[in-house]
Amino acid sequence: MPQVGSSLRQRADYTHKFNLKTGRHGWLRLTPAYSVKVVTETISRYETGLKVLDPFCGTGTTALCAVAEGHRATTVDINPFLTWLASAKTSIYSKRSLAETERAGVAALDLTHREALEPAPVPNIHRIERWWPESASHFLAHLKSAIVASTTDAQVRDLLRVAFCRTLIKLSNAAFNHQSMSFKNDDSQGQLQTDLGPGALFLNDLRFVLQGAADNPPGAAAVVQDDARDLSRLTAADFDLVVTSPPYANRMSYIRELRPYMYWLGYFDNARAAGELDWQAIGGTWGIATSRLSVWTRQHGCWLPDQLEGILADIAADANANGSLLAAYVAKYFEDMSQHFDRLRTVLKRGARLHYIVGNSTFYGVLVPTEQLYAAMLREYGFVGVTVRPIRKRNSNKALFEFDVSAVWPEGQGHRYGHGWQR
Ligand SMILES: C[S@@+](CC[C@H](N)C(=O)[O-])C[C@H]1O[C@@H](n2cnc3c(N)ncnc32)[C@H](O)[C@@H]1O
Repeated sequence: MPQVGSSLRQRADYTHKFNLKTGRHGWLRLTPAYSVKVVTETISRYETGLKVLDPFCGTGTTALCAVAEGHRATTVDINPFLTWLASAKTSIYSKRSLAETERAGVAALDLTHREALEPAPVPNIHRIERWWPESASHFLAHLKSAIVASTTDAQVRDLLRVAFCRTLIKLSNAAFNHQSMSFKNDDSQGQLQTDLGPGALFLNDLRFVLQGAADNPPGAAAVVQDDARDLSRLTAADFDLVVTSPPYANRMSYIRELRPYMYWLGYFDNARAAGELDWQAIGGTWGIATSRLSVWTRQHGCWLPDQLEGILADIAADANANGSLLAAYVAKYFEDMSQHFDRLRTVLKRGARLHYIVGNSTFYGVLVPTEQLYAAMLREYGFVGVTVRPIRKRNSNKALFEFDVSAVWPEGQGHRYGHGWQR
């Protein structure tokens, strides 16, 4: 078991906050995005020219860092909005596209101000007035249809939509506190949260996006929408290095956090569809995902460490009001991750290295040592050189840390049968 040093600090440079000023990495924020610095430090330990995989892409941090460091990158996410964003972030833009984006952005804003087009429908998000003052929704609905009308070029439209996403968050009452999103002080609702008019905000956002877009990565990345428990859209035995931050077992819902963007861009239009997508995601626990979990039963089809059973029993204890539900949540999380590690083997080259940047968690004071459970699963699935290295303290809670769980897919002739590894 690793000794978690008492000197380990909470490091802002090791969190998503570091990314906001770093060009394309700062285009849109996702709270669980990991730090460009952690990824770059991890990747730069290896020689260049590798095929790098991130099976939990999020905003595309690994892919963008990997190509910037001279590797080829493939990144996978189950969420179509995130694969769209990662594609836009890792694309190569010509000078002509950048100039065309600027022209189309100004044209779209002019159409918006003149209300020259039929506005797009306002999203069917529950109590939308809590999110955006009426004047902001009105502006965004006009801008959305103006963006479609102002260009037929897919890359140009992508860049305009990234700027649109930045603006819609600035115009909203959403506040990002701690792990997830809430609303700003209720008193301020009904007024725009900024001194700039929405048009000026959009132009500023477009300028910021264009600056990042002008800084082209040296190579393009492949972005694939797939399930990390399946990975059948990837080529077998293809990857040298995996660097990723998987979902944590902490009930963080990416869909919940991303819903303002996803509603406005039309990825779903009701809460049920949003919950369905969260149920597909590992660790998803929002809306319908929670009611599904309450009737979910363990599959027992994949290998799990014995240590997990005692942890689940402690979480499910009678004294814990929602103990059974949360024990089911944790059990499903590890079943899903076990399936992922199992499938991952099929896409790795011999000698491939892995780095899983992951945090532990607690439920009712019961520690879930995710890093140790990952290490046990990796060993069971035949990985060697499994190491757990603490990286940083996650918050003021003494028990919560982030770790780099690393391993090697061994060289050799072995082949897998059932759960284990046989030579
Ligand atoms: C911690 S976030 C990754 C953040 C990313 N490293 C970044 O910097 O933005 C985990 C990601 O895993 C994705 N995810 C969850 N379940 C998945 C699954 N079954 N297959 C693929 N991706 C999944 C989520 O949509 C989320 O984007």
